Amino acid sequence: MRIKIYLIIVLLIVTGVLFVFRQKEGDGAMANSNHKVLVAYFSRTGEQYGVGNIKKGNTAIIAEMIADATGGDLFEIKVAKDDYPEEYDALVNYARVEKQKNARPELAGKIKEFDKYDVVFLGYPNWWGDMPMPVYTFIDSYDLSSKQVYHFCTHEGSGSVKKGLAVYGHVAQNERETAKKKVDEWLKTLDL
Ligand SMILES: Cc1cc2nc3c(=O)[nH]c(=O)nc-3n(C[C@H](O)[C@H](O)[C@H](O)COP(=O)(O)O)c2cc1C
Repeated sequence: MRIKIYLIIVLLIVTGVLFVFRQKEGDGAMANSNHKVLVAYFSRTGEQYGVGNIKKGNTAIIAEMIADATGGDLFEIKVAKDDYPEEYDALVNYARVEKQKNARPELAGKIKEFDKYDVVFLGYPNWWGDMPMPVYTFIDSYDLSSKQVYHFCTHEGSGSVKKGLAVYGHVAQNERETAKKKVDEWLKTLDL
């Protein structure tokens, strides 16, 4: 009888410790999720608005935060023939023409085993109040109909989105803790 009581006490303690541990783990957003997550993003380095010459794109920074928090795989959407100018004004003009043409630039690389993912985070910078044209090529190239798709963007003022996450590019670049907080708060609101 005494042994039984000891065993019950030990079991209760172990259950309690596990419960506390899992709660802590849950603070890191999607730690307990069973989803297979893909974080696909388009982002540019070089000269960007308000941040000078950057080595890692603003959207890339947010994409990495999401991948870290969800355990997701990262995929950078890149064009096959990269003619995008490094200089900001030239890039703005280039992107304007691309948008006017409703272009579908060919992409480099393919996602391996796309079918295995059930959640896709899709990230991009706001370009002319729209998605960059390579992101349209991406959407045309993969069947997203059976996936849970969540959008996130970076911007420098036009970040009013109905659904999804919008972060100022300069915040992503220069105020990482603030950006991370925004990301984590947003992830907690999702059905994951
Ligand atoms: C071609 C181009 C067009 C842009 N158009 C807008 C815009 O319409 N509204 C806005 O708020 N920001 C605009 N921006 C600013 C970018 O959205 C912002 O700097 C973003 O964080 C860049 O992300 P990236 O480093 O991941 O490429 C534009 C930037 C570029 C290069």
